[in-house]
Amino acid sequence: MTETTELLDAGERLDAEELREVQLERLRAQLRHAYAHVPFYRESFDKAGVHPDDCRSLADLARFPFTTKADLREHYPYGMFAVPRERVRRIHASSGTTGRPTVVGYTDNDLSMWADMVARSIRAAGGRPGDTVHVAYGYGLFTGGLGAHYGAERLGCTVVPASGGMTARQVQLIQDLKPGVIMVTPSYMLTLLDEFERQGVDPRSTSLRVGIFGAEPWTEGMRREIEERFAIDAVDIYGLSEVIGPGVAQECVETKDGLHVHEDHFYPEVVDPVTGEVLPDGERGELVFTSLTKEAMPVIRYRTRDLTRLLPGTARTFRRMEKVTGRSDDMVILRGVNLFPTQIEEIVLRTPGVAPHFQLRLTREGRLDALTVRAEARPDAPAGTREDAARAIAAAVKDGIGVSVTVEIVEPESLERSVGKIRRIVDLRPR
Ligand code: DLL
Repeated sequence: MTETTELLDAGERLDAEELREVQLERLRAQLRHAYAHVPFYRESFDKAGVHPDDCRSLADLARFPFTTKADLREHYPYGMFAVPRERVRRIHASSGTTGRPTVVGYTDNDLSMWADMVARSIRAAGGRPGDTVHVAYGYGLFTGGLGAHYGAERLGCTVVPASGGMTARQVQLIQDLKPGVIMVTPSYMLTLLDEFERQGVDPRSTSLRVGIFGAEPWTEGMRREIEERFAIDAVDIYGLSEVIGPGVAQECVETKDGLHVHEDHFYPEVVDPVTGEVLPDGERGELVFTSLTKEAMPVIRYRTRDLTRLLPGTARTFRRMEKVTGRSDDMVILRGVNLFPTQIEEIVLRTPGVAPHFQLRLTREGRLDALTVRAEARPDAPAGTREDAARAIAAAVKDGIGVSVTVEIVEPESLERSVGKIRRIVDLRPR
């Protein structure tokens, strides 16, 4: 056994057949729990003419109805809970850009399972008991900070609960407390990078070995940029509050080939976003999750709106999900062409003289939507290279995505910096 194999937990050691057995048994119990304790599920199953007893194989899950964000909103705040409120030990909520937030709840057992999943994630990323972990995900109703925190404690690490913001102090803490691991959004890692440079500290000289980045889409180009500038391994962590928070899926540092879904607790499906039909592994579509062991708030076939595909396991038995390159909500449709911010990120990051900071402005000219890519010049870019860079980006977008955009190369440090999840699209179209 290699060192890593010895460290695996019981769930990670299941072979494919054992995993399917565990999943089916847990799935059936989870469906029964949801049906018995959440009126919403009872009604929606009854309406669809299915009963938990109809689930005899994993494929039978496809007969059950989907759950959407709108369903959670409608049952705000506690309508989706399957246990009395007194057994709910913690609440988190997603901000929700429009309307009511969505509230999620956890029992003691849910919190413990979540900590196990994040501990598993940190270990897969290369963290070890005894490491110091700097957590710069926001603490509060957002699941990033507290989720990372309890997972790192569970693994046996020393946690620095920095949360987001106060960037100058974060750099100081990293230098003084010498963490081996940082957990933060990739966009905020870039903000930290600027601050290291402003303070005249070489970001490659820190104690950091591993960065665990998630909560927003990021590309292979961004991975290269962060790994190179900080001299660390950068790996991807995925999750969503409705399912649990961070720790639903994690990339292994030894392969960096997509995220192993923690399938012993969260059952993934990929469906056609329009028809809802389940797609075979390997095909791209919308990711759907069913929790297998949650007590306070089971979710059955929850539509994430995240687009990806499922692939066979490599470093683990669990199937992998490809890096999420976008959400159906972030997709811009420009003169009939679908465009995701991550496609622009790839292009910006390979254009010489341009920093990894960019913003997309949507405007309307007459009856047509127009997109302006605003990207920052690198401070060290030779004068006179900006026009070349703008032309190169516009040409790459035209060739690669098939649509014309305007590109503005703006002054270094002129675009707003992220302290958590970045907002790439500024929609200036009249309502
Ligand atoms: O962002 C949980 C989280 C915290 C994950 C910290 C990883 C690290 P929500 O605020 O509910 O939860 O947002 C969930 O964020 O549906 C995706 O669209 C996006 N997202 C999360 N992780 C990734 C990732 C947290 N690694 C939504 N890559 C999800 C791409 C991600 N998108």
